[in-house]
Amino acid sequence: MAQRFDPPQNFSGNAHIKSLDEYRSVYERSVADPEAYWAEIAEQFHWHEKWTDVKKWNEPWVEWFVGAKTNIAYNCLDRFLGTPTQNKAAIVFEGEPGDTQTLTYLQLHREVCKFANALKNLGLEKGDRVAIYMPMIPELAIALLACARIGATHSVIFGGFSAEAIRDRVNDAECKAVLTADGGWRRGRVIELKKAVDEALADNACPTIERVVVFKRCGNEIEWNDEVDVWWSDAVADASADCPAEPLDAQHPLFILYTSGSTGKPKGVLHALGGYMVYAAHTTKYVFDLKDEDVYWCTADIGWITGHSYIVYGPLANGATALMFEGAPNYPDWGRFWDIVERHRVSIFYTAPTAIRAFLKQGDDYPNRHDLSSLRLLGTVGEPINPEAWLWYHRVIGKERCPIVDTWWQTETGGIMITPLPGAVTTKPGSATLPFFGIEPAIVDEKGEAVPQGEQGLLVVQHPWPGMMRTIYGDPDRFRESYWETVPHAYFAGDGAMQDEDGYFWILGRVDDVVNISGHRLGTAEIEHALVGHPSVAESAVIGTPDEITGEALVCFVTLIGGIEKSDALKDEIVDQVAKEIGRFARPKTVRFTDALPKTRSGKIMRRLLRKVAANDPSLGNIDTLEDISVLAQLQAEDE
Ligand code: WT7
Repeated sequence: MAQRFDPPQNFSGNAHIKSLDEYRSVYERSVADPEAYWAEIAEQFHWHEKWTDVKKWNEPWVEWFVGAKTNIAYNCLDRFLGTPTQNKAAIVFEGEPGDTQTLTYLQLHREVCKFANALKNLGLEKGDRVAIYMPMIPELAIALLACARIGATHSVIFGGFSAEAIRDRVNDAECKAVLTADGGWRRGRVIELKKAVDEALADNACPTIERVVVFKRCGNEIEWNDEVDVWWSDAVADASADCPAEPLDAQHPLFILYTSGSTGKPKGVLHALGGYMVYAAHTTKYVFDLKDEDVYWCTADIGWITGHSYIVYGPLANGATALMFEGAPNYPDWGRFWDIVERHRVSIFYTAPTAIRAFLKQGDDYPNRHDLSSLRLLGTVGEPINPEAWLWYHRVIGKERCPIVDTWWQTETGGIMITPLPGAVTTKPGSATLPFFGIEPAIVDEKGEAVPQGEQGLLVVQHPWPGMMRTIYGDPDRFRESYWETVPHAYFAGDGAMQDEDGYFWILGRVDDVVNISGHRLGTAEIEHALVGHPSVAESAVIGTPDEITGEALVCFVTLIGGIEKSDALKDEIVDQVAKEIGRFARPKTVRFTDALPKTRSGKIMRRLLRKVAANDPSLGNIDTLEDISVLAQLQAEDE
């Protein structure tokens, strides 16, 4: 029996949703008449024009707030002008070197307007795609909001991606500009962002790019091309601070964000303005029980969906104070996060299980050296959390006082889907518990039939919700095939899950060839593609294996081209190849040479066998050298 933790009484008493009964009654209403529910929520925002229909659904295509016009930058900024919120901190920033900056709603509004005009002066307009490759500094949030203000679709590329990855993403979306910085700080070193952009653009490899806007962050030396490059400071120097938010159709493409699938190249997940805005803002308010006086800190990078929805759009659309941190959790030491919590009096803290496991390993001293009494709510996201890490988080960080929300969702879902509401739902370590308002998840088999309670199945969502992605940019067929055809008439998320006797959801991880490294999603096909780009590699197969800290780790089985010597130096080169093609965060943990990959008679790689090999499964005997792996494969193939 899993341990249970009831919401603390003093928390529930002040929460937006105070009891399980209250949660259930709102939930029932939200699924009984979703259109009425979402219309009521949407009324709380500013619309230049109201909708004619709340929803139009033609599987798998959905439209929310049909015919309406709005602007998310208006809803995050202008809406608060002339109210007491205008002088409240919108963004509290701490850079890795320790520099800090606070932007009130009024100040942020001004910066966004100026930069939006700068973008217009550079020739960008509504409908253009703009790539953003920046460090975690306030200008990154300003960049998103400025694009949103003028109706340019942003495509943020996480600062850990390599030049090759930038090139693919920029070209897939046919971006007209890149917004970047000279560098960003990471563990005392400069990450040379502009250099990576230059490499991506070299030899006219990104022919749609007209301008590169460069913010000066680190002062590192960079190369300069007068025809393309422009300093951020020059671009805003004489830009006017008057830039009315463009009224945009609710179906307008707000952003594209690339994510890994089980096959082929990364998918450009496209989110549309109206539905995304309502969903991101509404989930932020209820999942984090957000109050006016909170200081809210999500430690994700804006390069991922978590940062889009829960650093920028969700908190700002609620008039909240969001903390933004540029650096790493262990620099200058493992106390950095707790030092930030103490100094900024953070009240809501949202991070990834991989970070919690890393902290746990460092012991209790780092957090215990700091005053964490400002915290009132903790959250996790990105991968299943093991009960040991959950309990440590609860005891050492939350002092057994703070509820924990384990939030399950995806890039594709736009916002949180399954989560406890902190004042209402009893938690069990390792379970994301119950669905958010308006969400109807189910556990089914491949035919779409419900599996019995307590059994593992595929996690699906049965009806569209406002935050649901609209398509894969430039590839609508792939959207239908990837998400709507595995299980008939349901959105299939790619995860396995089960439901317990209380109806609680337990997410068991991906059932496709997607691995989750420290909460970062990578397709094994993508890694394999990168590996065979190395001149010595003939063939490769990649699997994820359990890892104590990162959740999963990449193990790559590689066959070499005839005549090439196996060596440790070559292994290092192969690891670097992945860093070059994708980014350093994707570097495999292990490379293993093999003379042949185990395959079925029809030529499919036997990943199941490779997983056993990687786990040193005793049933396989001693296979240290892997010389015999093809023989082993033949033996196993007999029972396929
Ligand atoms: C995949 C989505 C959405 C935020 C960051 C990741 C896994 C996410 C949980 C959780 C168990 C989780 C799933 C999902 N995942 N949250 N609370 N418990 N697994 O976004 O990169 O789109 O990855 O992350 O496997 O499918 P993403």
